[in-house]
Amino acid sequence: MTKQIHLAAHFPGVNNTTVWSDPQAGSHIEFDSFVHLARTAERAKFDFFFLAEGLRLREQGGKIYDLDVVGRPDTFTVLAALAAVTERLGLAGTINSTFNEPYEVARQFASLDHLSDGRAAWNVVTSWDAFTGENFRRGGFLANEDRYTRAESFLRTAWKLFDTGVGQFEHKDQHFDISGTFGVPRSPQGRPVILQAGDSDEGREFAAATADAIFSRHGTLEAGQKFYSDVKGRLAKYGRTHDQLVVLPAATFVLGDTDADAQEKAAVVRRQQVSGATAIRFLEQIWNRDLSAYDPDGPLPEVEPVIGENTIAKGRASVRMFKDPAATVKQWREKASAKNLSIRDLVIDVSARQNFIGSADSVATQINDLVQQDAADGFILVPHVTPGGLDEFADTVVPLLQERGVFRSEYSGPTLRDHLGIR
Ligand SMILES: Cc1cc2nc3c(=O)[nH]c(=O)nc-3n(C[C@H](O)[C@H](O)[C@H](O)COP(=O)(O)O)c2cc1C
Repeated sequence: MTKQIHLAAHFPGVNNTTVWSDPQAGSHIEFDSFVHLARTAERAKFDFFFLAEGLRLREQGGKIYDLDVVGRPDTFTVLAALAAVTERLGLAGTINSTFNEPYEVARQFASLDHLSDGRAAWNVVTSWDAFTGENFRRGGFLANEDRYTRAESFLRTAWKLFDTGVGQFEHKDQHFDISGTFGVPRSPQGRPVILQAGDSDEGREFAAATADAIFSRHGTLEAGQKFYSDVKGRLAKYGRTHDQLVVLPAATFVLGDTDADAQEKAAVVRRQQVSGATAIRFLEQIWNRDLSAYDPDGPLPEVEPVIGENTIAKGRASVRMFKDPAATVKQWREKASAKNLSIRDLVIDVSARQNFIGSADSVATQINDLVQQDAADGFILVPHVTPGGLDEFADTVVPLLQERGVFRSEYSGPTLRDHLGIR
């Protein structure tokens, strides 16, 4: 059976995927930017608009990391405002379960679901670092291994509150001991759509037990298929079926008039994303030492990485993703020497790749092929220019997917659960 594709629009995050130096780039704070991307996504009949969240600004070398844009406004405030200027588009917010409290978050999501007539979604994230906890005066607060038990308990407590509507509640477990009355009537969706973004075994198990959709990093055919069958394979033990978890990898794209034109544009975008300064900072995160004296157009540093606690970078994904710096450095040296890459070339090679590159026709084919081959159920698209980076996709790729009968031309119902086909 031909699958229907799900699409979501990721408002650009605070990282170098977004090219802020582009003359077309706008503000990431002003409301107009949010409105532009949301309205484009709704015009294109996307399932939802997505906001990531970081609760503490990233730092490097003891200073706020300022090579990318810095700062972002509060999720609920933005989504509530967007509810007023959109009608059908789902509104997904990333809200942390380690530092918040279930009563407050349940009130906020139930309210958003009311204000939007059933379009709210909650991406439940746990966050990694003690560094973020300091913003909440809790230091590390929870060991990483306890974060998913708190997350599950947090979510089940919030569900109890959503289900209670106005009335008495009581919840006691290892993390929460709360009772009282919940004040927000049951909302249109009952419970907002639950998204999940963890990638560890515990994260995947949590998603299989509780989530309606999962946001992943695995957007290629092979990695996507492996992830897809892994998480879908975990559902049965929770009495759930394959269609109850929608798998949505993040995906970037570059469109051109022809495939060759798009390849050329993509090469330019990658160099915009990884400036010389960005490349050096990126290496510092892995080497765990100051590399500011190195030339980004020269060879990789000959000094060895400092092994042990990372003291250079705080709040950076790269530190977690490359868990074994010694092995990573060895591998990168081999690659750089085999392909004669400078520091900047190497960083582009290992960090900046667009998922879909081509003419509208070939991007539509690439997306549909991945979905039909069970590498995904759709994608959360991350444009590299804010706020206009989705316009061309909406105008050229979406109509082709519609013509091919794999993407909706009209919303079939009012709620985000309707769009995602989940109950
Ligand atoms: C694709 C993806 C997106 C994520 N987005 C966010 C985010 O916006 N904000 C956040 O605090 N954590 C985010 N996380 C972090 C997860 O919530 C989680 O804390 C982290 O991945 C560690 O759990 P894990 O070991 O199960 O992956 C994201 C993780 C992934 C894989």
